[in-house]
Amino acid sequence: MRKLLLQIMTSLALVCMVGCTPSTSNEQQSYAPIKVEVPERPAGQEDVIQLTAPKIETVRVGFIGLGMRGPGAVSRFTHIPGTQIVALCDLIPENVEKCQDILTKAGLPKAEAYTGDEEAWKQLCQRDDIDLVYIATDWKHHAQMGIYAMEQGKHVAIEVPSAMTLDEIWALINTSERTRKHCMQLENCVYDFFELTTLNMAQQGLFGEVLHVEGSYIHNLEEFWGDYWNNWRLDYNNEFRGDIYATHGFGPACQLLDIHRGDRLKTLVAMDTKSASGPILAKKYGVANDSINFQNGDHTMTMIRTENGKTIQIQHDVMNPRPYSRMYQLTGTAGFANKYPVEQYCLRPEQVKADEVPNHENLNMHGAVSQEVKEALMKKYKHPIHQELEEVAKKVGGHGGMDFIMDYRLVYCLHNGLPLDMDVYDLAEWCCLAELGRISIENGSAPVEVPDFTRGGWNKVKGYRHAYVK
Ligand SMILES: NC(=O)c1ccc[n+]([C@@H]2O[C@H](COP(=O)([O-])OP(=O)(O)OC[C@H]3O[C@@H](n4cnc5c(N)ncnc54)[C@H](O)[C@@H]3O)[C@@H](O)[C@H]2O)c1
Repeated sequence: MRKLLLQIMTSLALVCMVGCTPSTSNEQQSYAPIKVEVPERPAGQEDVIQLTAPKIETVRVGFIGLGMRGPGAVSRFTHIPGTQIVALCDLIPENVEKCQDILTKAGLPKAEAYTGDEEAWKQLCQRDDIDLVYIATDWKHHAQMGIYAMEQGKHVAIEVPSAMTLDEIWALINTSERTRKHCMQLENCVYDFFELTTLNMAQQGLFGEVLHVEGSYIHNLEEFWGDYWNNWRLDYNNEFRGDIYATHGFGPACQLLDIHRGDRLKTLVAMDTKSASGPILAKKYGVANDSINFQNGDHTMTMIRTENGKTIQIQHDVMNPRPYSRMYQLTGTAGFANKYPVEQYCLRPEQVKADEVPNHENLNMHGAVSQEVKEALMKKYKHPIHQELEEVAKKVGGHGGMDFIMDYRLVYCLHNGLPLDMDVYDLAEWCCLAELGRISIENGSAPVEVPDFTRGGWNKVKGYRHAYVK
């Protein structure tokens, strides 16, 4: 009996430790989410919402990290007018050489090379003839490189995910706020043709009020596992639970919901499966720390509720044999859109004028609009960015063109002294799922508060808009 009592008391104590407060209502219990500290903004520092910086006529770039991803960026920049590739850095000299060849083939002079030393990238950041440092290394180097580059007076663009922990996120925010330098996460999927067209439709009210959004990163990485430098990606999966690669699905979802432009992420809960394929991959490719059980669940789901009562569901699976999917699905009060496995729209008939979009039939409850209507909608709502760049983007390429559009927009905004399409708070929000999800999972999928990374500024701007020169 005493043993049973002790067990009950221990369970109750654990429940309280994770911050659960049963409500007084008999009908329903509500639980307060686990609180996550928001560090006070250092004195003398202001937010960087809609940050502008002086116009840069020629954007001079230094690249760090030239493995599988980096060279594509170097190549894309050879197609962007008003840029100059000043310096290239990678630990491995041959990787730098390959990128020098890209420059030569494009008829450009060789760049200054930094290589062979773990810290050589710091010398690149210290140069006084660079405006932008573009980082495409493994995840553990991202934040420290971005912080150092901003401290050296450079704008930074960092591959996804740009930060892996809340400490890294806050350090990037504080550095951007203090130095007034742009810190953009290189999230390319927000420029994909279906995503950006659908965002335009949503912004013009076609779906009514967007209530629920889904995104995912479902990508069997089998063909890549053996090729990452130092096996960094599998090592990270081995060490951490939570959605550690959320941004491709989460970024477009947040843009649809105007996150920190009138709404904010408030609470999340996460759940994962056991690690089933992970340990098999660890045996096949090896991991740095084989004394721990493989941590990342094969499939991780995170659900987030926003201040305005919207919901988001994000999934991650990079290990099992499923067709690639970023999901990209939205439900609104007047319509629905879905990208994977088939692109489709479903709209209340009154949303579209018959003369604008032909044969917009009154749908039954099982159907989406016809292919003909879908094409007419996508043509009518083609985003101005795509109207301007689609042709050249498809020629230059990079995931079908969206990578080029991302780089082009970054340079366009720097040329014109405009706020970038994605700011450091987007970076923070889209990266926070890793640590916050882990906290939730490790506490029995308890709700966890999402910090307001803007520290009070999330409602200053109403609605997400791309900046253009007037
Ligand atoms: N947005 C996308 O669609 C997309 C696609 C692929 C990869 N990525 C991201 O790009 C980044 C790079 O991925 P990858 O596939 O190219 O990995 P990779 O392992 O092929 O390349 C990483 C490179 O970083 C270099 N590096 C490591 N430490 C360094 C240091 N101290 N100084 C200089 N160089 C250093 C390595 O030598 C290597 O060449 C990752 O963040 C990944 O998530 C994004």
